[in-house]
Amino acid sequence: MKNKVKIEKTIPPFNKIINVPSDKSISIRCVLFSAIANGKSKIYNLLESEDVMNAVRAVKKIGVSCIKKKNYYEFSGVGINGFKFKNNTIINAGNSGTLARCIMGLLSGTKNTIILEGDKSLSKRDFNRVIEPLNLFGVVIKSSNGNLPLRLKGSDLIRPIKYIEKKGSAQVKTCIILSAVNAPGLTKIKAKKSRNHTELILKHLNYPIKIRKSRGYDLIEIKGREQFKSFNYKVPGDISSASFFIVLTLLAKKSELLIKDININISRLGILKILNRMNANIKIINQRRYKGEMLGDLKIRSSENFKSINCPSSFNSSAIDEFLLIFLIAAKSNGVSRFKNLDELNNKESPRLNIAVNFLRLIGIKVIKKKGNIEIFGNPKLKLNKNYNIKNFIKDHRVFMMSVIAALTLGGKWTINDKDSVNTSFPNFLSVIKKLGGTIN
Ligand code: S3P
Repeated sequence: MKNKVKIEKTIPPFNKIINVPSDKSISIRCVLFSAIANGKSKIYNLLESEDVMNAVRAVKKIGVSCIKKKNYYEFSGVGINGFKFKNNTIINAGNSGTLARCIMGLLSGTKNTIILEGDKSLSKRDFNRVIEPLNLFGVVIKSSNGNLPLRLKGSDLIRPIKYIEKKGSAQVKTCIILSAVNAPGLTKIKAKKSRNHTELILKHLNYPIKIRKSRGYDLIEIKGREQFKSFNYKVPGDISSASFFIVLTLLAKKSELLIKDININISRLGILKILNRMNANIKIINQRRYKGEMLGDLKIRSSENFKSINCPSSFNSSAIDEFLLIFLIAAKSNGVSRFKNLDELNNKESPRLNIAVNFLRLIGIKVIKKKGNIEIFGNPKLKLNKNYNIKNFIKDHRVFMMSVIAALTLGGKWTINDKDSVNTSFPNFLSVIKKLGGTIN
């Protein structure tokens, strides 16, 4: 079967209500926390994508039973330090940096060796960022140059640490927090702000974790080895998946969209703050609280006259997975948009900053890139009529989906390869596009 799509028509006006798949970050965290809870946890709306199913397979390999019931997944948690597995057990994290980095923390208290592997993209990514703090805990890790595959050997003698996390990476922070849960005593982390789902779940579980705010950083204290009970959780929709449809609606003609039941945690709302500053029409309605998280519905209307932005880098972490889409709006804006300190984008599933620059130039937009800073010279009249072939993006799901949104709104005849990449985070992406009236061959 061909693994590409062809798009030759822009999407006609639509006015619809949709749901998008459940949050990937929260789904993976639910799998990991239910693995170390005591007893049976029920996780409703678990995202059924490759990254999350790799998380399910990973915890099964270390002795946690997981049964798929009619509308939830039931995990039989083994408690802290309760994993049972043979020496040299292999865990394959596939494409998921979140799973790979976070499960390393979860395993810090186990004596048998784990071999951690990933796909081609994950094997190029940096693991020194988690190896360094885990070494301080007393975990022994062997890798070549901080890449996968690696061998990890924990210990029941690990010690708590004090650590300053400067990247603003939620994966690194979560890895340290999970390792701290295994270490007797108090671990103290000063972490640059990043998404805080891990902390909120632990608080909801009444786990002894304290968080204080201090100028762009969170000061986190976690007491290790406190057992906690199993829990039930219903995973809300993923704002990162919703973002493709936010930008589709903004760029489509005379359209309106309501996206229901989305996690609107402030640490994920960068895209809304940035786009609304650029004159987008996005509203949050029906806000409510759920187990420490905020949920809401998003109402979006086609917008015109986008303004350029001088984007403060304090927004970077809360929009980290959405910049490809934000750049598309910048391409249609009046004036020059400036984004700073986005080097981290080149450490994602693909070198996304470089790929974005090439993409924008391909569609005729002037871009100046200096290290992690880029300037995008917007063209409000941008209309395409050539042939475009998008390939060689290391099957990055977000590059594929952003390209589909560009094709459906900017014109031209497009071939976009590696359609299967959507399975990482949004398996029914193309069927939602079709529901809105997009023609895809
Ligand atoms: C994630 C954190 C972010 C994000 C990734 C998911 C998480 O990565 O890009 O898609 O679930 O913790 P970093 O923490 O490395 O910035």
